[in-house]
Amino acid sequence: MNKFTIISGKTSEVLAKKLAEKLGANLLKTQLRVFEDGESKITIKGRLEKNKIIVIQSTYPPVDENLIQLLSIISKAKEIGTEVITVIPYMGYARQDKEFLPGEIITMKVIANLLKSVGTSKIIVVDIHSAIGLNYFNIKIQNVSAIPDLAKYFLKIKLKNPLVVSPDQGGKHRAKEFAKFLKTDFISLVKIRNRRTGKVEIKYTKFNEIIGRDLILVDDMISTGGSIIKATKFLKKQKCNRIFVACTHALLGNSAEKKIKKAGVTKIISTITIPGKTSIVDVSDVIVKAIL
Ligand code: R5P
Repeated sequence: MNKFTIISGKTSEVLAKKLAEKLGANLLKTQLRVFEDGESKITIKGRLEKNKIIVIQSTYPPVDENLIQLLSIISKAKEIGTEVITVIPYMGYARQDKEFLPGEIITMKVIANLLKSVGTSKIIVVDIHSAIGLNYFNIKIQNVSAIPDLAKYFLKIKLKNPLVVSPDQGGKHRAKEFAKFLKTDFISLVKIRNRRTGKVEIKYTKFNEIIGRDLILVDDMISTGGSIIKATKFLKKQKCNRIFVACTHALLGNSAEKKIKKAGVTKIISTITIPGKTSIVDVSDVIVKAIL
């Protein structure tokens, strides 16, 4: 009997295969049918054994659909397995971790309760949007960092006096860690988001640090691309050299990649937490370490 069985949700098949190879685990896929009315019917392909089960599913768009599939798979795994460990490489709703405006619901908290209630005993996430979200879980949750693997990729590119840039103050620690791997320095721009209109404004005054250098904008995620486009346009005006983007989760909705490139970004590099054209960096090693 294998020590682990892995059940792969539809959104994380590539990562599931890598984890299964590295853990020597039995890999079970799921078959999915989404009906006209939007309901998901999920079938686990293969026999579940009474051992530790790892369920893996990112909750990128369609977020609610992928979330209900994840909850359903965990609940089935719990009926048979001795323990269920859940890997959510990209955790949707992690940005809804505070009541920013009166009346707003902290959906991250609701999801934390749901995940516990269906029977998982441990959760592993990769670069969750902010550490605040972790506080809502009453079970073990481990947030692993993709920054070392992302930074390693950039060590292979010939860069001109690289400077690591966080598009906002919230990402300062990320930029600092990334810069440490590249043995270079970092700065954090000031991003002001209007919570009612969603409009973003960038502020920064120490332009001398930017002129003529290759920049790497580091962020946890790109959704619409709005933050990266604003930052890129701002940095280009300050006469930097090339701009690269490194992010863990590239959602890149609504032609965001095209718009980001048009704004002046040379290349976008992201991880396989969300499969896509820019998803190059493997994060299976760091997840395996958290499982064992
Ligand atoms: C915000 O604080 C996050 O770190 C990302 O910068 C942001 O959520 C990305 O979203 P978008 O691409 O829509 O600007």
